Amino acid sequence: MIEVHALTKRYGDFTAVRELSFTVQPGEVLGLVGPNGAGKTTSLRCIAGIIPASSGTARIAGHEVATEPVAAKRALAFFPDEPRLFDYLTVRQHLNFVARIYGVADHEAIAQPLLDELEIADKADQLPGELSRGMKQKLAIACGLLHGPRVMFFDEPLTGLDPLGIRRMKDSILKRARDGAAIVLSSHLLHLLEEVCSHVLILKQGEKIAHGTLAEVTAQFAQGETGVSLEEIFIRATGGTEH
Ligand SMILES: Nc1ncnc2c1ncn2[C@@H]1O[C@H](COP(=O)(O)OP(=O)(O)OP(=O)(O)O)[C@@H](O)[C@H]1O
Ligand SMILES: [Mg+2]
Repeated sequence: MIEVHALTKRYGDFTAVRELSFTVQPGEVLGLVGPNGAGKTTSLRCIAGIIPASSGTARIAGHEVATEPVAAKRALAFFPDEPRLFDYLTVRQHLNFVARIYGVADHEAIAQPLLDELEIADKADQLPGELSRGMKQKLAIACGLLHGPRVMFFDEPLTGLDPLGIRRMKDSILKRARDGAAIVLSSHLLHLLEEVCSHVLILKQGEKIAHGTLAEVTAQFAQGETGVSLEEIFIRATGGTEH
């Protein structure tokens, strides 16, 4: 599970995230939403231990990220919007390499179904330069899932995927949650978040302005109306002008 307490991140004088606290239990999918620059990526990077927080704590599967980074990182996978791949490793070599880093035994038996699930099995011997953008993203996702992480952070994972790819990714995320993973999913595709997330957290200028189950957050801003979409809730909550 994910436990974040009073996380603050400053870049110089600028506070990008202020006193952020939340937890995500196994089986939950938290949708992290907010306008551009709200601090979503910064929060995810701090929680995953990619950049240091200025203050506050984050625990992944019981391990404090700042003081037990290796144990915390073993339990998590972080999927950035721009996947970083090795130019001279094929798809299969990527998976072999990641398996060695994480000490995944019998990784072939895990890698093949992942490649099939993500529909890149026919590209197993290709280099990243020979893959489309969406395929690169799928390869990065396969690499991240190989060690069976219990905690997953997706930062805009669906950008660049085709409609079927988005649906498949949605199914993959739900499947991992059903298997007991704790997941944070940051995306601007709110109609999709509505289908995937059990909980929502809205960030605005680095501060949490709403957090709860999808129904709770919707009720908070729906002003008694029924059937209000998350998109409309987002606009009301973040002070958009279209409302
Ligand atoms: N390395 C950095 N140095 C200085 N400021 C930064 C740095 N990274 C991010 N920021 C600032 O922190 C704020 C939050 O940025 P962040 O990338 O976390 O936003 P975001 O919510 O992920 O936005 P988006 O929806 O556009 O991805 C922004 O004002 C951004 O300019
Ligand atoms: Mg971002």
